[in-house]
Amino acid sequence: MPTVVITGANRGLGLEFVRQYLAESWNVIACVRQPSPALTGLQEHGQLTIHPLELVDPEALAAFASSLGDRPVDVLLNNAGTMGRGSFATEGLTPFQFGTSNAGEWAEVFHLNVFVPMKLAELLVDNVAASEWRRIVTLTSMLGSMELNTLGGLYAYRASKAAVNATMRSMAIDLAPRGIIAVPIHPGWVKTGLGGDKAPLEAPEAVAGVRSVIASLTPENAGRVLSYAGEGMPW
Ligand SMILES: NC(=O)c1ccc[n+]([C@@H]2O[C@H](COP(=O)([O-])OP(=O)(O)OC[C@H]3O[C@@H](n4cnc5c(N)ncnc54)[C@H](OP(=O)(O)O)[C@@H]3O)[C@@H](O)[C@H]2O)c1
Repeated sequence: MPTVVITGANRGLGLEFVRQYLAESWNVIACVRQPSPALTGLQEHGQLTIHPLELVDPEALAAFASSLGDRPVDVLLNNAGTMGRGSFATEGLTPFQFGTSNAGEWAEVFHLNVFVPMKLAELLVDNVAASEWRRIVTLTSMLGSMELNTLGGLYAYRASKAAVNATMRSMAIDLAPRGIIAVPIHPGWVKTGLGGDKAPLEAPEAVAGVRSVIASLTPENAGRVLSYAGEGMPW
């Protein structure tokens, strides 16, 4: 069966990806800072491996990659992401609005949302190239689209998702000769810690949609921004 590497797999969309890929008997390598009981409870599936991994630690990333050796990775799924509201909360500021920008927060958001998918792709590219599926997917957001931004705010998060779209576009071009399809996919607005309670979608529906898009990718899709429904999205 194919193998998927999923980052941020202890809760939210990442955990649901683990559940659904295990249900289809895939080999799942789940990367997490702290395994949640919900994730460890899935270990009864023999195909789940949990890797403790702080993604913004470059040495930990490299050690994770070398622990895989030359094992093929069919799908590298860059799921972990942050809006960075943590430091705003501790400073008592209203998050995400003009007038509240913070260098540490921007660095944290860009490191996790943009640089980690880039570096992980570089570290695992040979594993992906050696697989049957050969896909690198990063979860982006419609909030990264210039055209769809009519509300303003959310500066660091929007900018990071626009940046990761540009990153995936270059990756799609550079890795096409190796038969790798690289795409950013928007999962919809989903009820999770990040999406909040007002989101219209539940994680199982969003993840089923993203998985179906991943399964039906063709080289023509490489570098496009796709929605969980498989539609092209405006930049
Ligand atoms: N939910 C939505 O409506 C929505 C919409 C568009 C795009 N997305 C994208 O979908 C992806 C998943 O979002 P979600 O809604 O599932 O978010 P979530 O519930 O907040 O989960 C985020 C995940 O990222 C992990 N993470 C954060 N910082 C990390 C770090 N430094 N090292 C390792 N793991 C780290 C978290 O682990 P910890 O538990 O250890 O913090 C958690 O597992 C993100 O890229 C997000 O931008 C979500």
